Amino acid sequence: MSTPPREAVRELLSEKTIARRVSELAARISADYAGREVIVIGILKGSWIFLADLVRLMTVPVVIDFMTVSSYGTSTRTSGVVKIVTDLKCPLEGRDVLLVEDILDSGLTMRYLLDNLRRRGPRSLRVCVLMDKPARRKVEIRPDYVGFEVPDEFVVGYGTDYAERFRHLPFIGCLENREGEGDDAR
Ligand code: IMP
Ligand code: MG
Repeated sequence: MSTPPREAVRELLSEKTIARRVSELAARISADYAGREVIVIGILKGSWIFLADLVRLMTVPVVIDFMTVSSYGTSTRTSGVVKIVTDLKCPLEGRDVLLVEDILDSGLTMRYLLDNLRRRGPRSLRVCVLMDKPARRKVEIRPDYVGFEVPDEFVVGYGTDYAERFRHLPFIGCLENREGEGDDAR
């Protein structure tokens, strides 16, 4: 038997609030891409639940692909290094590409991904993030679609994790009593 987590999760965004916002985003995205097919790229693992809910509410045709990048390891401390662990299968040349990410924090991961994907020659490249933490931005990135602006707190649930835990929570919450919490712990 494993020991239960000691951290407490305080609800920030309820299941209902998330569902309402995701359907608004899907409607806006569908309107913006009307008459076009969208290549939706999910960044694993954090975006998996958000992407699954989003694409099922979109009314334009989609092709779905995933990329796994590592920037944080299993802790919450940023390494500052972004690495593509698993790359896309889809070519992007001439395609309308929508990048779907869980959280925009410092922006370093997104900056790297956008530079990388732009070199593949897409016709358009836009960014949809579930949560934006503008307070922590280190590089200028303006996402095209944002679900929620969230405060500078560590959040988990609805796909996002702390050391691989809490991804399954249907709501989003702030993680309290994190071990080793300090100024730069993330
Ligand atoms: P950035 O490169 O600093 O923008 O970090 C973005 C990535 O860090 C996100 O895709 C998340 O995987 C992770 N991340 C940032 N903040 C949080 C958080 O509060 N909870 C869980 N993961 C986070
Ligand atoms: Mg991520």
